[in-house]
Amino acid sequence: MAPETLPLLTPYKMGKFELSHRVVLAPLTRQRSYGNVPQPHAVLYYSQRATKGGLLIAEATGVSDTAQGYSDTPGIWTKEQVEAWKPIVRAVHDKGAIFFCQIWHTGRVSNYGDPPLASFMFLVSSSSRKRDRSLLTHLSLICGVLCRFPAQWASSSLQHRQRHPPVAQHDDSVAEYSPPHRLRTDEIPHIVNDFRLAARNAIEAGFDGVEVHGAHGYLLEQFMKDSVNDRTDEYGGSLENRCRFPLEVVQAVVDEIGADRVGIRLSPFTDYMESWDSDPEALGLYMAKALSKLGLLYCHVVEPRMAIVEGRRKLQHGLLPIRKAFQGTFIAAGGYDREEGNKAVNSGYTDLLAFGRLFLANPDLPKRFLLDAPLNKYNRLTFYTPDPSSATPTTPFSIPRPDFQTPFGDPANKTPQIRYQGPRVALVLGLNLRLFMVSTWCPLCDASSDVCAVVFFIII
Ligand SMILES: Cc1cc2nc3c(=O)[nH]c(=O)nc-3n(C[C@H](O)[C@H](O)[C@H](O)COP(=O)(O)O)c2cc1C
Repeated sequence: MAPETLPLLTPYKMGKFELSHRVVLAPLTRQRSYGNVPQPHAVLYYSQRATKGGLLIAEATGVSDTAQGYSDTPGIWTKEQVEAWKPIVRAVHDKGAIFFCQIWHTGRVSNYGDPPLASFMFLVSSSSRKRDRSLLTHLSLICGVLCRFPAQWASSSLQHRQRHPPVAQHDDSVAEYSPPHRLRTDEIPHIVNDFRLAARNAIEAGFDGVEVHGAHGYLLEQFMKDSVNDRTDEYGGSLENRCRFPLEVVQAVVDEIGADRVGIRLSPFTDYMESWDSDPEALGLYMAKALSKLGLLYCHVVEPRMAIVEGRRKLQHGLLPIRKAFQGTFIAAGGYDREEGNKAVNSGYTDLLAFGRLFLANPDLPKRFLLDAPLNKYNRLTFYTPDPSSATPTTPFSIPRPDFQTPFGDPANKTPQIRYQGPRVALVLGLNLRLFMVSTWCPLCDASSDVCAVVFFIII
């Protein structure tokens, strides 16, 4: 296919935003916002991925001090955080890109190891059911690498040991979760208000809009999905009741900043964080219709897990009914590459496509798609490391100049390399020490995982 006609690189009008292409940066938590304050190194990280007319969605950003699930994820509830976001947003805008902030509340998914009483009391959910034990840790991923198996194999080897194996979306390194506090009916409006204020703050920080995080087993999904929600009040039971809280959140955010600046992310088909639904299609359809009535700008939906067909991972393409039911812009995500992405846009399956891991490892992803250039491989071990220098792509980008104009600048320019070289060695040592602390066995070889950790340490 000629680069000029690549469906992924055709323009698209999303509400009032003129996009020059369909390749969206998916929200990617990096755990590098020390003390929940966005850091100056994020200027480089986001502006590297910004293109004129491209859409970027920032990593999940906490709506309040009690909304936190992971250390060093950014927030947007204090003046300091808003001010810290400003130069990052400015840098993205300077490149001509559109920047949305994903806002979240993690609910019962919190890995504050031994929480002080205060944060324990603020661990909230739709229910007082806690998450099951979670053993899919950095360790299993590292053992997967060490044993030269893909990490998916490492995770599948855990399945017989776990009733509901979680998927490694985040730093899932704590085995035991405390039972959450079931939100009382009269407490819910306070959380809705936190989302409203966070949206206002995001606009104050300069973002073009917000994406409400209604996916991946966090608080909003803990209400939507019947594996978690066991309430008997007006927020539990029927589909309509379970969707009430997320829709109240969206309504509040829409009232605050306008529907033309609000998107949502949903994942009805996933079971992350032991959160799944007995009828995901009905859930997705119900939400799509209700969100259309609110005039939401976009609906961003994560694909069902990939199936293995004839030994190859295959996208399920399960989102079409939801796409048809939603009247605004539709964004699909999860497992796409250049070929599948072009097919999906070309067939009208989706308007835009969000790329996570590929964009993480290839800051100039739209340009690489344009030129069909080779892609850097992503490195799972650097997904959540606090050292920003580990985001540096390993393969320098240097390919011939095409003979037509692109919205991505001069392709002959090399991707800027991140100059900050943090205490990488200390980090690796720390990570290994941590492995020694949490590990008991290797999920693949069934030997003591300390042995694997030692091998890893020696290799490093
Ligand atoms: C390191 C990492 C961090 C992520 N953080 C978030 C997040 O903050 N919010 C979210 O909705 N999804 C998050 N995800 C999921 C991605 O946005 C995306 O849906 C997922 O990686 C699948 O898309 P891909 O196959 O293009 O990578 C994260 C994924 C990864 C790998």
